[in-house]
Amino acid sequence: MNDPLDGAPGEVSPGPQAQGQEVRKAVQVLRRGGLIGLPTETVYGLGADAGNAHAVARIFAAKGRPPDHPLIVHLHDFGQIGAWARQVPRVARELAEAFWPGPLTLILPRAPTVLDAVTGGLDTVALRVPSHPLARRVLEQFGGGIAAPSANPHKKISPTTMQDVREALGDAVDLLLDGGPCALGIESTIVDLSGARARILRPGSITPEAMQQVAGLDVGYAVDPTLRSPGSMSLHYAPQARVVLIPVAQVQQEIDACIARGLRAGVLSARRVPTWPAQIPWLALGESPAEQAQHLYQRLREADRLGLDVLIAVPPGDPGIGHAVRDRLRRAAGLGEAPHQA
Ligand code: TXA
Ligand code: MG
Repeated sequence: MNDPLDGAPGEVSPGPQAQGQEVRKAVQVLRRGGLIGLPTETVYGLGADAGNAHAVARIFAAKGRPPDHPLIVHLHDFGQIGAWARQVPRVARELAEAFWPGPLTLILPRAPTVLDAVTGGLDTVALRVPSHPLARRVLEQFGGGIAAPSANPHKKISPTTMQDVREALGDAVDLLLDGGPCALGIESTIVDLSGARARILRPGSITPEAMQQVAGLDVGYAVDPTLRSPGSMSLHYAPQARVVLIPVAQVQQEIDACIARGLRAGVLSARRVPTWPAQIPWLALGESPAEQAQHLYQRLREADRLGLDVLIAVPPGDPGIGHAVRDRLRRAAGLGEAPHQA
Protein backbone atom coordinates (compact mmCIF):
# COMPACT_ATOMS: atom_id res chain seq x y z
CA MET A 1 0.00 0.00 0.00
CA ASN A 2 1.29 3.48 -0.82
CA ASP A 3 2.06 5.66 2.13
CA PRO A 4 -0.69 8.29 2.02
CA LEU A 5 1.40 10.75 3.96
CA ASP A 6 4.05 13.34 3.34
CA GLY A 7 5.75 13.08 6.71
CA ALA A 8 8.33 10.49 7.72
CA PRO A 9 6.94 7.48 9.61
CA GLY A 10 6.96 7.86 13.36
CA GLU A 11 7.42 11.60 13.20
CA VAL A 12 7.28 13.11 16.68
CA SER A 13 5.63 16.35 17.73
CA PRO A 14 7.95 18.89 19.37
CA GLY A 15 6.77 18.78 22.95
CA PRO A 16 3.96 18.31 25.41
CA GLN A 17 2.45 21.71 24.61
CA ALA A 18 -0.56 21.47 22.34
CA GLN A 19 0.90 23.11 19.25
CA GLY A 20 -1.66 24.33 16.73
CA GLN A 21 0.53 23.16 13.89
CA GLU A 22 0.77 19.65 15.31
CA VAL A 23 -2.99 19.48 15.66
CA ARG A 24 -3.43 20.53 12.01
CA LYS A 25 -0.88 17.94 10.93
CA ALA A 26 -2.67 15.24 12.91
CA VAL A 27 -5.96 16.13 11.24
CA GLN A 28 -4.28 15.93 7.81
CA VAL A 29 -2.85 12.51 8.65
CA LEU A 30 -6.31 11.30 9.73
CA ARG A 31 -7.96 12.67 6.58
CA ARG A 32 -5.43 10.84 4.41
CA GLY A 33 -6.09 7.54 6.14
CA GLY A 34 -3.00 7.56 8.35
CA LEU A 35 -2.39 6.57 11.97
CA ILE A 36 -1.65 8.92 14.86
CA GLY A 37 -0.39 8.31 18.39
CA LEU A 38 -3.11 10.09 20.35
CA PRO A 39 -2.62 11.10 23.99
CA THR A 40 -5.68 10.70 26.18
CA GLU A 41 -6.14 11.08 29.95
CA THR A 42 -6.26 7.26 30.32
CA VAL A 43 -3.62 5.75 27.98
CA TYR A 44 -2.27 6.64 24.54
CA GLY A 45 -4.46 5.57 21.63
CA LEU A 46 -3.59 4.48 18.10
CA GLY A 47 -5.99 6.71 16.20
CA ALA A 48 -7.48 6.54 12.70
CA ASP A 49 -10.51 7.96 10.92
CA ALA A 50 -13.37 5.74 12.17
CA GLY A 51 -15.20 6.31 8.88
CA ASN A 52 -12.35 5.03 6.68
CA ALA A 53 -12.20 1.23 6.38
CA HIS A 54 -8.62 1.24 5.06
CA ALA A 55 -7.41 3.41 7.91
CA VAL A 56 -9.18 1.17 10.44
CA ALA A 57 -7.61 -1.91 8.84
CA ARG A 58 -4.19 -0.32 9.41
CA ILE A 59 -4.90 -0.17 13.16
CA PHE A 60 -5.52 -3.92 13.29
CA ALA A 61 -2.40 -4.62 11.22
CA ALA A 62 -0.20 -2.37 13.37
CA LYS A 63 -1.37 -3.94 16.63
CA GLY A 64 -1.61 -7.52 15.40
CA ARG A 65 -5.15 -7.41 16.80
CA PRO A 66 -7.72 -10.06 15.77
CA PRO A 67 -10.47 -8.52 13.59
CA ASP A 68 -13.28 -9.46 15.97
CA HIS A 69 -11.93 -7.16 18.70
CA PRO A 70 -14.00 -3.99 18.37
CA LEU A 71 -12.59 -0.47 18.70
CA ILE A 72 -13.71 2.54 20.72
CA VAL A 73 -14.82 5.54 18.67
CA HIS A 74 -13.67 8.82 20.21
CA LEU A 75 -15.87 11.89 19.73
CA HIS A 76 -15.45 15.55 20.56
CA ASP A 77 -18.82 15.94 22.24
CA PHE A 78 -22.11 14.30 23.09
CA GLY A 79 -23.83 16.15 20.22
CA GLN A 80 -22.14 13.80 17.72
CA ILE A 81 -23.53 10.65 19.32
CA GLY A 82 -26.54 10.36 16.98
CA ALA A 83 -24.24 9.65 14.02
CA TRP A 84 -22.88 6.55 15.79
CA ALA A 85 -25.65 5.19 18.03
CA ARG A 86 -29.20 4.46 16.85
CA GLN A 87 -30.62 4.61 20.38
CA VAL A 88 -29.44 6.83 23.18
CA PRO A 89 -31.21 5.90 26.41
CA ARG A 90 -31.76 8.52 29.10
CA VAL A 91 -29.13 6.92 31.28
CA ALA A 92 -26.50 7.37 28.54
CA ARG A 93 -27.29 11.07 28.47
CA GLU A 94 -27.03 11.31 32.27
CA LEU A 95 -23.73 9.46 32.40
CA ALA A 96 -22.33 11.54 29.55
CA GLU A 97 -23.39 14.75 31.29
CA ALA A 98 -21.65 13.67 34.46
CA PHE A 99 -18.49 12.04 33.10
CA TRP A 100 -17.78 13.33 29.57
CA PRO A 101 -15.27 14.50 28.66
CA GLY A 102 -13.62 11.75 30.69
CA PRO A 103 -12.66 8.10 31.18
CA LEU A 104 -16.04 6.46 30.50
CA THR A 105 -16.91 4.41 27.40
CA LEU A 106 -20.56 3.72 26.61
CA ILE A 107 -21.68 0.68 24.62
CA LEU A 108 -24.82 1.51 22.67
CA PRO A 109 -26.77 0.02 19.74
CA ARG A 110 -24.81 1.03 16.64
CA ALA A 111 -26.09 3.29 13.88
CA PRO A 112 -26.36 1.46 10.52
CA THR A 113 -23.52 3.48 8.97
CA VAL A 114 -20.86 2.44 11.50
CA LEU A 115 -18.21 0.27 9.83
CA ASP A 116 -18.22 -3.44 10.68
CA ALA A 117 -14.45 -3.22 10.99
CA VAL A 118 -14.92 -0.82 13.93
CA THR A 119 -17.52 -2.89 15.79
CA GLY A 120 -16.06 -6.30 14.99
CA GLY A 121 -19.43 -7.13 13.42
CA LEU A 122 -21.34 -6.53 16.69
CA ASP A 123 -24.66 -4.70 16.71
CA THR A 124 -23.25 -2.26 19.26
CA VAL A 125 -20.61 0.48 19.23
CA ALA A 126 -18.26 1.77 21.93
CA LEU A 127 -18.18 5.58 22.30
CA ARG A 128 -16.08 7.88 24.43
CA VAL A 129 -15.36 11.61 24.70
CA PRO A 130 -11.83 11.97 26.10
CA SER A 131 -10.74 14.93 28.21
CA HIS A 132 -7.07 15.30 27.27
CA PRO A 133 -6.73 18.83 25.80
CA LEU A 134 -4.64 17.69 22.83
CA ALA A 135 -7.08 14.90 21.96
CA ARG A 136 -9.92 17.39 22.26
CA ARG A 137 -8.29 19.82 19.83
CA VAL A 138 -7.63 17.07 17.29
CA LEU A 139 -11.21 15.78 17.61
CA GLU A 140 -12.64 19.27 17.29
CA GLN A 141 -10.71 20.12 14.14
CA PHE A 142 -11.15 16.66 12.60
CA GLY A 143 -14.89 16.79 13.18
CA GLY A 144 -15.48 13.03 12.83
CA GLY A 145 -14.97 9.99 15.03
CA ILE A 146 -11.49 8.68 15.75
CA ALA A 147 -11.24 4.92 16.25
CA ALA A 148 -8.48 4.34 18.78
CA PRO A 149 -7.50 1.27 20.71
CA SER A 150 -4.68 1.54 23.22
CA ALA A 151 -1.46 1.99 21.22
CA ASN A 152 0.24 -1.27 22.23
CA PRO A 153 0.84 -4.51 20.38
CA HIS A 154 -2.02 -6.96 21.05
CA LYS A 155 -1.97 -8.28 24.67
CA LYS A 156 1.02 -6.16 25.67
CA ILE A 157 1.25 -3.35 28.20
CA SER A 158 -0.75 -0.21 27.37
CA PRO A 159 1.28 2.97 26.75
CA THR A 160 1.10 5.91 29.14
CA THR A 161 3.81 8.06 27.51
CA MET A 162 4.60 9.00 23.95
CA GLN A 163 7.94 7.17 24.28
CA ASP A 164 6.05 3.94 25.08
CA VAL A 165 4.14 4.27 21.79
CA ARG A 166 7.28 5.07 19.85
CA GLU A 167 9.13 2.05 21.23
CA ALA A 168 6.29 -0.40 20.58
CA LEU A 169 4.64 0.86 17.39
CA GLY A 170 6.76 3.81 16.20
CA ASP A 171 7.31 2.48 12.68
CA ALA A 172 3.62 1.92 12.08
CA VAL A 173 2.50 5.36 13.28
CA ASP A 174 2.54 8.34 10.93
CA LEU A 175 2.49 11.04 13.60
CA LEU A 176 3.08 10.78 17.33
CA LEU A 177 1.56 13.54 19.42
CA ASP A 178 3.27 14.15 22.73
CA GLY A 179 0.72 14.96 25.38
CA GLY A 180 2.97 14.15 28.34
CA PRO A 181 2.39 11.23 30.73
CA CYS A 182 -1.26 10.14 31.00
CA ALA A 183 -2.89 11.53 34.12
CA LEU A 184 -5.01 8.44 34.94
CA GLY A 185 -2.83 5.65 33.58
CA ILE A 186 -5.42 2.88 33.09
CA GLU A 187 -8.05 2.50 30.38
CA SER A 188 -11.57 3.90 30.59
CA THR A 189 -14.43 2.19 32.41
CA ILE A 190 -16.62 0.45 29.81
CA VAL A 191 -20.33 0.27 30.59
CA ASP A 192 -22.70 -1.64 28.35
CA LEU A 193 -26.05 0.17 28.03
CA SER A 194 -27.33 -1.92 25.13
CA GLY A 195 -29.08 -4.59 27.21
CA ALA A 196 -31.85 -4.63 29.79
CA ARG A 197 -29.39 -3.90 32.63
CA ALA A 198 -26.32 -1.70 32.63
CA ARG A 199 -23.17 -3.78 33.00
CA ILE A 200 -19.54 -2.87 33.47
CA LEU A 201 -17.40 -4.76 30.96
CA ARG A 202 -14.09 -3.23 32.07
CA PRO A 203 -13.48 -1.48 35.42
CA GLY A 204 -11.70 1.86 35.41
CA SER A 205 -11.45 5.15 37.29
CA ILE A 206 -15.22 5.74 37.11
CA THR A 207 -16.67 3.34 39.65
CA PRO A 208 -20.17 1.79 39.80
CA GLU A 209 -20.78 3.85 42.94
CA ALA A 210 -20.02 7.09 41.09
CA MET A 211 -22.41 6.07 38.29
CA GLN A 212 -25.08 5.15 40.80
CA GLN A 213 -24.75 8.55 42.45
CA VAL A 214 -25.20 10.63 39.31
CA ALA A 215 -27.62 8.53 37.31
CA GLY A 216 -29.27 6.43 40.03
CA LEU A 217 -27.98 3.61 37.89
CA ASP A 218 -27.93 0.11 39.33
CA VAL A 219 -24.86 -1.05 37.48
CA GLY A 220 -23.14 -4.33 38.19
CA TYR A 221 -20.14 -6.06 36.69
CA ALA A 222 -20.78 -8.35 33.74
CA VAL A 223 -20.77 -11.98 34.81
CA ASP A 224 -18.45 -12.93 31.96
CA PRO A 225 -17.25 -9.84 30.13
CA THR A 226 -15.35 -11.97 27.59
CA LEU A 227 -18.73 -12.91 26.11
CA ARG A 228 -19.65 -9.27 25.54
CA SER A 229 -16.29 -7.60 25.15
CA PRO A 230 -13.88 -9.74 23.17
CA GLY A 231 -10.86 -7.67 24.23
CA SER A 232 -11.25 -8.60 27.86
CA MET A 233 -9.68 -12.05 27.54
CA SER A 234 -7.59 -13.18 30.46
CA LEU A 235 -3.93 -12.66 29.46
CA HIS A 236 -3.44 -8.99 28.72
CA TYR A 237 -1.25 -6.11 29.79
CA ALA A 238 1.48 -8.70 30.22
CA PRO A 239 5.17 -7.96 30.78
CA GLN A 240 7.85 -10.54 29.85
CA ALA A 241 8.26 -11.41 33.52
CA ARG A 242 5.87 -13.96 35.03
CA VAL A 243 3.53 -12.02 37.31
CA VAL A 244 2.50 -13.69 40.58
CA LEU A 245 -0.08 -12.10 42.85
CA ILE A 246 0.68 -12.56 46.54
CA PRO A 247 -0.83 -11.14 49.75
CA VAL A 248 1.65 -8.89 51.53
CA ALA A 249 2.14 -11.43 54.35
CA GLN A 250 3.58 -13.99 51.89
CA VAL A 251 5.98 -11.72 50.01
CA GLN A 252 9.02 -12.68 52.05
CA GLN A 253 8.35 -16.38 51.50
CA GLU A 254 7.96 -15.87 47.74
CA ILE A 255 11.19 -13.85 47.57
CA ASP A 256 13.01 -16.68 49.35
CA ALA A 257 11.51 -19.26 46.97
CA CYS A 258 12.65 -17.26 43.91
CA ILE A 259 16.17 -16.83 45.31
CA ALA A 260 16.35 -20.57 46.07
CA ARG A 261 15.41 -21.35 42.44
CA GLY A 262 17.92 -18.85 41.05
CA LEU A 263 15.20 -16.62 39.60
CA ARG A 264 15.57 -12.88 39.29
CA ALA A 265 12.59 -11.46 41.16
CA GLY A 266 11.27 -7.99 41.92
CA VAL A 267 8.38 -6.81 44.07
CA LEU A 268 5.58 -4.47 43.04
CA SER A 269 3.77 -3.16 46.10
CA ALA A 270 2.56 -0.03 47.84
CA ARG A 271 5.02 -0.56 50.73
CA ARG A 272 8.29 -2.34 51.27
CA VAL A 273 8.27 -5.49 53.38
CA PRO A 274 10.32 -5.09 56.60
CA THR A 275 13.25 -7.35 55.73
CA TRP A 276 14.37 -6.83 52.19
CA PRO A 277 17.21 -8.71 50.48
CA ALA A 278 19.50 -6.17 48.79
CA GLN A 279 19.34 -7.89 45.39
CA ILE A 280 15.54 -7.70 45.12
CA PRO A 281 14.37 -4.51 43.39
CA TRP A 282 11.27 -2.79 44.76
CA LEU A 283 8.88 -1.28 42.23
CA ALA A 284 6.81 1.22 44.20
CA LEU A 285 3.15 1.15 43.21
CA GLY A 286 2.32 4.33 45.14
CA GLU A 287 0.13 5.00 48.16
CA SER A 288 -3.18 6.38 46.88
CA PRO A 289 -5.45 4.39 44.52
CA ALA A 290 -5.14 7.11 41.84
CA GLU A 291 -1.34 7.03 42.08
CA GLN A 292 -1.38 3.25 41.83
CA ALA A 293 -3.43 3.37 38.63
CA GLN A 294 -1.17 6.06 37.21
CA HIS A 295 2.03 4.09 37.95
CA LEU A 296 0.91 0.56 37.16
CA TYR A 297 1.91 0.20 33.51
CA GLN A 298 5.20 2.08 33.96
CA ARG A 299 6.12 -0.35 36.73
CA LEU A 300 5.29 -3.36 34.55
CA ARG A 301 7.58 -1.89 31.89
CA GLU A 302 10.27 -1.39 34.50
CA ALA A 303 10.04 -5.10 35.36
CA ASP A 304 10.96 -5.82 31.73
CA ARG A 305 13.77 -3.26 31.67
CA LEU A 306 15.22 -4.92 34.77
CA GLY A 307 15.04 -8.31 33.05
CA LEU A 308 13.03 -9.87 35.86
CA ASP A 309 11.96 -13.52 35.61
CA VAL A 310 9.26 -13.05 38.23
CA LEU A 311 7.34 -9.99 39.33
CA ILE A 312 5.86 -10.56 42.78
CA ALA A 313 2.89 -8.19 42.93
CA VAL A 314 0.81 -7.27 45.97
CA PRO A 315 -2.65 -6.25 44.70
CA PRO A 316 -4.02 -3.09 46.37
CA GLY A 317 -7.09 -3.41 48.57
CA ASP A 318 -9.06 -0.29 47.62
CA PRO A 319 -12.63 -1.11 46.47
CA GLY A 320 -12.86 1.80 43.96
CA ILE A 321 -10.07 2.48 41.44
CA GLY A 322 -8.16 -0.29 43.23
CA HIS A 323 -10.61 -2.75 41.70
CA ALA A 324 -9.50 -1.65 38.23
CA VAL A 325 -5.83 -1.94 39.24
CA ARG A 326 -6.44 -5.47 40.57
CA ASP A 327 -8.24 -6.35 37.35
CA ARG A 328 -5.21 -5.30 35.24
CA LEU A 329 -2.81 -7.11 37.57
CA ARG A 330 -4.85 -10.31 37.42
CA ARG A 331 -4.84 -10.16 33.63
CA ALA A 332 -1.09 -9.48 33.59
CA ALA A 333 -0.82 -12.66 35.69
CA GLY A 334 -3.11 -14.55 33.27
CA LEU A 335 -5.78 -15.04 35.95
CA GLY A 336 -8.69 -13.24 34.28
CA GLU A 337 -10.88 -10.55 35.74
CA ALA A 338 -10.86 -9.55 39.40
CA PRO A 339 -13.54 -11.15 41.58
CA HIS A 340 -16.28 -8.76 42.62
CA GLN A 341 -19.65 -8.65 44.31
CA ALA A 342 -22.35 -8.00 41.73
O1 TXA B 1 -9.17 4.45 27.83
C1 TXA B 1 -9.46 3.83 26.81
O2 TXA B 1 -10.57 3.29 26.66
C2 TXA B 1 -8.39 3.72 25.70
C3 TXA B 1 -8.15 5.13 25.16
C4 TXA B 1 -7.19 5.14 24.00
O3 TXA B 1 -9.37 5.72 24.84
N1 TXA B 1 -8.79 2.82 24.68
C5 TXA B 1 -8.82 1.47 24.85
O4 TXA B 1 -9.13 0.75 23.70
O5 TXA B 1 -8.57 0.93 25.91
P1 TXA B 1 -8.89 -0.82 23.58
O6 TXA B 1 -9.22 -1.13 22.15
O7 TXA B 1 -7.56 -1.18 24.07
O8 TXA B 1 -9.99 -1.44 24.47
C6 TXA B 1 -11.33 -1.31 24.05
C7 TXA B 1 -12.17 -2.38 24.67
C8 TXA B 1 -11.86 -3.77 24.13
O9 TXA B 1 -11.80 -4.66 25.22
C9 TXA B 1 -13.07 -4.06 23.26
O10 TXA B 1 -13.38 -5.44 23.21
C10 TXA B 1 -14.15 -3.27 23.95
O11 TXA B 1 -13.51 -2.10 24.32
N2 TXA B 1 -15.24 -2.93 23.02
C11 TXA B 1 -15.19 -2.11 21.96
N3 TXA B 1 -16.37 -2.10 21.32
C12 TXA B 1 -17.19 -2.91 22.01
C13 TXA B 1 -18.56 -3.32 21.85
N4 TXA B 1 -19.30 -2.87 20.86
N5 TXA B 1 -19.06 -4.18 22.76
C14 TXA B 1 -18.31 -4.64 23.79
N6 TXA B 1 -17.02 -4.30 23.98
C15 TXA B 1 -16.48 -3.46 23.10
MG1 MG C 1 -6.09 -2.17 24.93
